[in-house]
Amino acid sequence: MADTANSDAFVEFERVQKSYDGENLVVKDLNLSMPKGEFLTMLGPSGSGKTTCLMMLAGFETATHGEIKLDGRPINNIPPHKRGIGMVFQNYALFPHMTVAENLSFPLEVRKIGKSDREAKVKRALDMVQMGSFGGRRPAQLSGGQQQRIALARALVFEPELVLMDEPLGALDKQLREHMQFEITNLAHQLGITVVYVTHDQTEALTMSDRVAVFDDGRIQQLAPPDELYESPENSFVAQFIGENNTLEGTIKEIGEDVCLVQLDDGELIDAKPVNVSKVGDRTTISIRPERVEVDTAKLGDKAHTLKAEVMEFIYMGDVFRTRLKVAGKDNFIIKTRNSADQRRLQPGEQIEIGWLPRDCRALDAV
Ligand SMILES: Nc1ncnc2c1ncn2[C@@H]1O[C@H](COP(=O)(O)OP(=O)(O)OP(=O)(O)O)[C@@H](O)[C@H]1O
Ligand SMILES: [Mg+2]
Repeated sequence: MADTANSDAFVEFERVQKSYDGENLVVKDLNLSMPKGEFLTMLGPSGSGKTTCLMMLAGFETATHGEIKLDGRPINNIPPHKRGIGMVFQNYALFPHMTVAENLSFPLEVRKIGKSDREAKVKRALDMVQMGSFGGRRPAQLSGGQQQRIALARALVFEPELVLMDEPLGALDKQLREHMQFEITNLAHQLGITVVYVTHDQTEALTMSDRVAVFDDGRIQQLAPPDELYESPENSFVAQFIGENNTLEGTIKEIGEDVCLVQLDDGELIDAKPVNVSKVGDRTTISIRPERVEVDTAKLGDKAHTLKAEVMEFIYMGDVFRTRLKVAGKDNFIIKTRNSADQRRLQPGEQIEIGWLPRDCRALDAV
């Protein structure tokens, strides 16, 4: 959901729209308000408008409509180099003819920082990304991951209040990526930097961010802290995009404050939490997380709803068992159960009963 304008905001997008061709809006109506020091991630599928938003904030693109403010001041007319923003983009483009130290020194020279100060800041920035002994090398003499770390150091060296990062870890292997995720969030919090981070990796978004803005089709579909996004998705797109999710289709039969009655397409009636449905007769997609489904339904007490299921596939994954079931005529219903001493391994073909609490079952917009 969109944020409203806020006087404490450090970064603000107010009703921002963007069209490249004068016809199609690739950013439709963006409202976003970030306090100082926040780490916000824009997460969404390819083409959803994330980079465009970052480019407008950086000043490389102008908004077609609306206003962008930094620290309370409109920045639409301030050129990029005067915005004091650090940037790391996927194609990090260090200056190839300069050494690592010269690359880092450059933004300081532009800002007329004296030589001894520059040297101290460059050293500190290199140490921050654990590249202290690489100052004399040229970019071509570094690995891709090392170049990204230098790009990060260069974005931070002049101590900007705002840093924009567009898929900065895209080229790294899993281990270095996880190490850098940790390093970036630590640095940002330590230095009190406000960060707008772009990724299409949901794990990265969930683990690094104070809040995540889920983008689709030029709009923020939901803006919330990671746990809220996962536990309380507001629409079917977010439920499907964040984490693993089961869906069943049906029609609303009764609707109240906290609970609605849904008739699934195979005729079964179940209770769900009404989230993004408005009236009786509406089509709905209900959403249940795999780990909220219980096989031992007696554990759930009498509030639970139970359904018959057929085991299609059982996958042993070490710490958890992942089982694919046929439920209400659909054979892609996934459940996850912890590998504990009393948890039986289910056999394909077995008929079982599954259940969940109504609060874990959300009635969302039909897909
Ligand atoms: N310079 C441009 N000229 C015309 N159209 C553009 C331009 N840049 C982006 N677009 C279009 O705008 C839409 C949003 O692109 P954008 O780069 O913001 O997406 P994204 O969310 O960053 O995607 P990705 O995850 O693939 O990087 C896309 O449909 C894209 O084709
Ligand atoms: Mg992009």
